[in-house]
Amino acid sequence: MAGTPELSRLLDEIRQADDVPRHVAVIMDGNGRWARDRGLPRWKGHREGMKAVRRCVEGSLQAGISHLTLYAFSRENWDRPPAEVRALMALLVEYVEREARELVANGVRVTVFGDRDRLSAEARSSVETLERTTSPGSALCLNLAISYGGRDEILGAARGLAEDAVSGRIDPADIDASSFERHLQTAGIPDPDLLIRTSGEMRISNFLLWQIAYSELYVTPVLWPEFGERELYEAILEYRRRERRFGRVGA
Ligand code: FPP
Repeated sequence: MAGTPELSRLLDEIRQADDVPRHVAVIMDGNGRWARDRGLPRWKGHREGMKAVRRCVEGSLQAGISHLTLYAFSRENWDRPPAEVRALMALLVEYVEREARELVANGVRVTVFGDRDRLSAEARSSVETLERTTSPGSALCLNLAISYGGRDEILGAARGLAEDAVSGRIDPADIDASSFERHLQTAGIPDPDLLIRTSGEMRISNFLLWQIAYSELYVTPVLWPEFGERELYEAILEYRRRERRFGRVGA
């Protein structure tokens, strides 16, 4: 990481206290606007966005975050023009080729969730190889949501529980949050403490609908291709100033 004095100062501040968010989730938005503002095609915005992914992973490692979840491609994104979808899939493959070695070296374990059956054979095999080669990593879990939709995930969990009930594996009266969560694609991953959205939009866009029930929301006007360690650290410091009450009365 390019360690400017300002980044070091922010990082020192983060490390001084021991309440770094365990899980940070990010809606990476604004690639298209970044490109448009420069008279460039949209795919160039996505390519620049890939560099921001790298900075965000590095910043997370430095800050001691244990889970980072990135919304890389939603189910709704399949409805974009075919050329843009192809460009995004190609970027995913390129990301794996470029970053795999360093992710392994830095102890990053990558997990992909979403409907991977819809990915091209090349993209699917690429992410599966990445999951396999990074599986020993224990410094940071990087979760990539690809072809993901929150409502769809909830429907899948409801379907799974209904099947368990019909086959007698569970009594419907015993269904609770824990049994439900075991059927989510994020089973085993703690809920996000902090949800960051770039580019200023005040929307959740079908991301982790169940899991963000009590997440702190942080929206920055910065477009995703310009997001970096500094913006991540500022979000963490803002998170620390919040009082999380989980529906209870404050201290
Ligand atoms: C939203 O910007 C961004 C996406 C739909 C794709 C995110 C992809 C990347 C950051 C690059 C590849 C990622 C990985 C993990 C390899 P938008 O296109 O909706 O922007 P706009 O709202 O300004 O049009």
